[in-house]
Amino acid sequence: MIERSLRVLLLLQFLYFATGEYNYGTVTCKNQACKYRPNVLDYKATACGTYNDTLTQTGWGVLDIVGGQGDDADLDIMYGAGYLEGVFTAERIWQHYQNVQDFFFRKRDADKLKKLKIWFDQQNSWMRNMIIKNKSDPMWRHVGLIMAQFDGLVAGYKSVAKMDLDVFAFQVLNGAGDLLDLLSVIDPASSADWTQMTRSQVLSYVQDRGMCSALIKVLGAYEDVLCPIQAGLCIKPL
Ligand SMILES: *[C@@H]1O[C@H](CO)[C@@H](O)[C@H](O)[C@H]1NC(C)=O
Ligand SMILES: *[C@@H]1O[C@H](CO)[C@@H](O)[C@H](O)[C@H]1NC(C)=O
Repeated sequence: MIERSLRVLLLLQFLYFATGEYNYGTVTCKNQACKYRPNVLDYKATACGTYNDTLTQTGWGVLDIVGGQGDDADLDIMYGAGYLEGVFTAERIWQHYQNVQDFFFRKRDADKLKKLKIWFDQQNSWMRNMIIKNKSDPMWRHVGLIMAQFDGLVAGYKSVAKMDLDVFAFQVLNGAGDLLDLLSVIDPASSADWTQMTRSQVLSYVQDRGMCSALIKVLGAYEDVLCPIQAGLCIKPL
């Protein structure tokens, strides 16, 4: 009997991994306070969307978020879109951070990590200050919206995640490509010594650290933006 229930359990687990998970929901946000409603798609709310977690089937999950159909402020819409992404993908974010952490920090001293944290904190304060001081400048207004999405992502993650991540983790995840260059500055010993490298070492270094290219196309009626991306960076941090 025990053996049989174990077999059923294993089968259920296999089915779970094989089919992934499909989630949908709606979020209503006002001044960075959000209320999430699962299994509802309300297009007039701040944002709503779906997440088809098909990572183990196709190698990708499909996240689709819609906002701006009601009368919410732009900052709330961006915050809400980030919030939904955090709610839907919390487990994948955590898993991804484990990969990134291993790739970038496993062999690095604590004091180098501390320098990196300070660097991110300083950039963050400077950026937020600029957003407040340049309210009428379109570029800083845009940065403000991106930061609202970032803050929403962190809040959405924290609202459901079993394992906590601090803001530094999200800074690292969103700066994965830049991290390679940053670490070379913060930890010069880790950067390449070109004079000591063979031709094949140089080739593989460039292959690992080449950056991505993307093509961006706005559809004719501004209804969507398409963005295919060629991932040049080593796949682990992506
Ligand atoms: C999720 O994606 C899988 C694989 O592409 C597909 O078979 C399935 O129909 C999708 N589920 C939904 C609800 O769209
Ligand atoms: C943004 O604000 C800072 C600080 O007040 C100022 O030095 C800078 O010129 C402003 N930038 C733009 C693009 O307006």
